[in-house]
Amino acid sequence: MAHLSEATIRRGDIEIAYRRGGDGPPLVFLHGFPLDGAMWQAQWEELSEHHDVIVPDLRGFGRSSLADDDVEQGVAMHRYAADAVALLSELNIEEPVALVGFSMGGYAAFQFALHHQSRLGALVLVDTRAGADTPEARAGRLAMADEVLAAGNVEAAFAMMPKLLAPSTVEKQGDVVEQLETMIRRQSPEAVAAAQRGMAARHDVGDQLAEIAVATLLIGGVDDAITPPDEMKQLAEVLPDGRFVEIADAGHMSPMENSAAVNAAIREFLGSVG
Ligand code: MLT
Repeated sequence: MAHLSEATIRRGDIEIAYRRGGDGPPLVFLHGFPLDGAMWQAQWEELSEHHDVIVPDLRGFGRSSLADDDVEQGVAMHRYAADAVALLSELNIEEPVALVGFSMGGYAAFQFALHHQSRLGALVLVDTRAGADTPEARAGRLAMADEVLAAGNVEAAFAMMPKLLAPSTVEKQGDVVEQLETMIRRQSPEAVAAAQRGMAARHDVGDQLAEIAVATLLIGGVDDAITPPDEMKQLAEVLPDGRFVEIADAGHMSPMENSAAVNAAIREFLGSVG
């Protein structure tokens, strides 16, 4: 297992923190909401054996900071993608990367694929969706943003907990439940509000999927209650070069709940596309 070192880059008014380690072609991971790069630990421990693994904390989350107007305006998904591109440039990585985006990180990965195509060699989308929110979901996000800011803590975000994990994970993997709770608790209300406002404003990218020509792997936990595997499977059918792998014994947080299966799927996919 390669050691990942932690560092930050300066980007305008903010700092983007990242972990990096390993040898081989670049492999970038974008985390979900309301989490940070640590959600990928089981992936970087294994995949850094054959890849130069880069794991940013998205703007506001983990050790990365927010710009002054990010909370007010929300962070649009294309801005998380632009931050990732800026990080790669700062690290002098100009060759196309393999990009793995989970849930909110997947929304950002779609933007990366659509707007920074020359930087992308292969795409892995984990427990995510192309569609925009329903009006109810959008209203729920905006309410949560207001609530965490008013409370000055992220307690309201724990309303998501029952949907994040498969029942079998809750029953048998207490360590995963604890890691997830700890990760949510350490995020700031500002990061949660900025991301929720950004996600609420995002558009459906379903009619742009034909533009994503790179080989794409879709991964979905069989018990995912947030982004059901059937939606991921349909995405694989619509994408020009898509394939789908369902992960057993996992809900939405499949990279943490069944890391062995997720790692195997990513490894086999990257092996097959070179
Ligand atoms: C995530 O895991 O990133 C979130 O469930 C995304 C969302 O709230 O749509």
